[in-house]
Formats: sequence, C-alpha cells, structure tokens
Amino acid sequence: MQKMIISGCNGKMGQVVESICKADGNIEVVAGFDVNQAKRDYPVFVSPANFTGEADAVIDFSSPKALDGLLAFAVERHIPLVLATTGYSEQQLAQIDEASKQVPIFRSANMSLGINVVLDLIRRAAAILGDSCDIEIVERHHNRKVDAPSGTAIMLADAAKEGLNYTPEYNYGRHDRREPRPKNEIGFSSVRGGTIVGVHEVIFAGRDEVLEIRHEAQSREIFANGAVKAAQFLSIVTAPGLYNMQDLVAAQNQGGAQ
Ligand SMILES: NC(=O)c1ccc[n+]([C@@H]2O[C@H](COP(=O)([O-])OP(=O)(O)OC[C@H]3O[C@@H](n4cnc5c(N)ncnc54)[C@H](O)[C@@H]3O)[C@@H](O)[C@H]2O)c1
Repeated sequence: MQKMIISGCNGKMGQVVESICKADGNIEVVAGFDVNQAKRDYPVFVSPANFTGEADAVIDFSSPKALDGLLAFAVERHIPLVLATTGYSEQQLAQIDEASKQVPIFRSANMSLGINVVLDLIRRAAAILGDSCDIEIVERHHNRKVDAPSGTAIMLADAAKEGLNYTPEYNYGRHDRREPRPKNEIGFSSVRGGTIVGVHEVIFAGRDEVLEIRHEAQSREIFANGAVKAAQFLSIVTAPGLYNMQDLVAAQNQGGAQ
C-alpha cells in the first residue's frame, strides 16, 4: 500500500487525484495539505510541517505559494515530491533544482502523456520548419486559471527552442507595440473562459502553408492519472534528482523504473 499526501486536496485537481487514489486500491491517502480547511476523510493540514505521520510521496496541485513549505517538508522528511503546480518564478525553479539534490522531485507543467508526445513533434517540426515559418502558440483554459500563458504553453515553446538553430524571444503580448513581427519570436496568446480544461495549438505559419499541432485535454483525469503514475515512479526511484515525464515514459518502456 502506497501512502500518499495530496497538497491542494480541496482544489479541483486535488479532488480528482483523491478519487484516482481511492479507485486504485493500492494507494492510501494519509493526509492533505490545503489552506482551505474543508473536511475530507483524512486529516488536512495548512502547513506540511504539522504532519508527523509516515508517507511515501506528496502530489501537489496547489499554488506556487505552497512551495517553500513543501520543499522544506520533502527535504527534512525525505519524502519524494510530485510538483504539478504551474506558475513558478525563475527563483522558485532554482529552489526546486537545489532541493532535488537531496530528495527525488518530479516536476511537469503538464502531466498528460499526449502533451509529451506533442513536445517531441514540436522539437522535430521546429528543427525542419524553424527557418521558413513563424511559430505562434495559442492556449485556452477555464476562467478560474490564474497564470498566463499556461505552464504547458511555455513547455511547448521550450521544446521548439530546442529544435531551432537560433534563440527565440518569447512575446507575451503585442498590445503595446506597433511594428511587424520579428522573425525570431515565439508569440503566446491566452484565451480564458468557461470550463475549458485545456487546449494548446502550436502554429508553424510559413509562406502559403500552415502546420498546426493541437492538443485538447477533455478531462482533468489525464493530469491526475499522470501525477499518480509519477508518484509511483518516485517511490521506486531512490536517488535524489529532478525527474519529468520523459523519465517516466523511458522507465515504462523499460518495464519499470531504474
Ligand atoms: N501539471 C499539470 O498537468 C496540471 C494540470 C492541471 C492544473 N495544474 C496546476 O495545478 C494547480 C492547481 O490547479 P486547480 O485547478 O486544482 O486549482 P484550484 O484553485 O481548484 O485548487 C488549488 C488548491 O490549492 C489550495 N492552495 C492555494 N494556496 C495554497 C497554499 N499556499 N498552501 C496550500 N494549499 C493552497 C487552494 O485552497 C485550493 O484548494 C494550478 O497551478 C494549475 O495550473 C497543473
């Protein structure tokens, strides 16, 4: 039985993670962390430091504000951490890097398998089309999302950057500029409305031809499932390090974690 803690347990994603853990049969949710103290059928702590029981992993879908407490908890208690929250600052990403030298940490701004196939396609498309096409990313999410552009949109741009033979500038909004689009930029457009779970389109627009690579998340379960798989992966991996979906997919292809 794997003992799991859900950080952000009273949020939309936290509740989906909880139902997946319960349906699994081999996972016991031993605690939750959340500033929202709504009752669940396991204890919920505002601060990770208040939990003194045993746990095998923490899955976090909460807020960048929870990061300090989570990292301190994971390092001190040596409990692996799955960080699915998005919107971290550069400084926070460096903190995550530092903590991963002491405890296994899995971080991905998108836990779905499909997006990770898309990343590979984007890298290859950018390598071939980067010189002849302009690259633009359009993302759509529900009206409760707080960060823009989405963490996934940035991951997609980073994948394009890896394939390009020049360093692109990321442009997050053109409202204050009156000039044509420079060649070396990747533009982001964010749509927010209703209950859209998440749509990402990467557009390669060339002279007289346009290629679009599109991913649509139709439920939150794809992310929650990926996060639970990541936690299972971390409970097998014992070495500290910063892991991502590519490590998980590689381990699955080899029939288990190394
Ligand atoms: N990586 C992925 O695949 C993926 C997929 C979906 C959402 N997300 C990200 O997960 C996060 C949560 O998304 P959501 O839709 O469930 O949001 P939500 O607002 O429904 O839930 C967030 C929960 O975290 C709690 N919280 C806020 N600040 C906290 C703090 N300082 N300490 C502890 N708990 C705190 C809130 O009370 C809430 O219950 C967001 O950053 C979102 O972008 C990532």
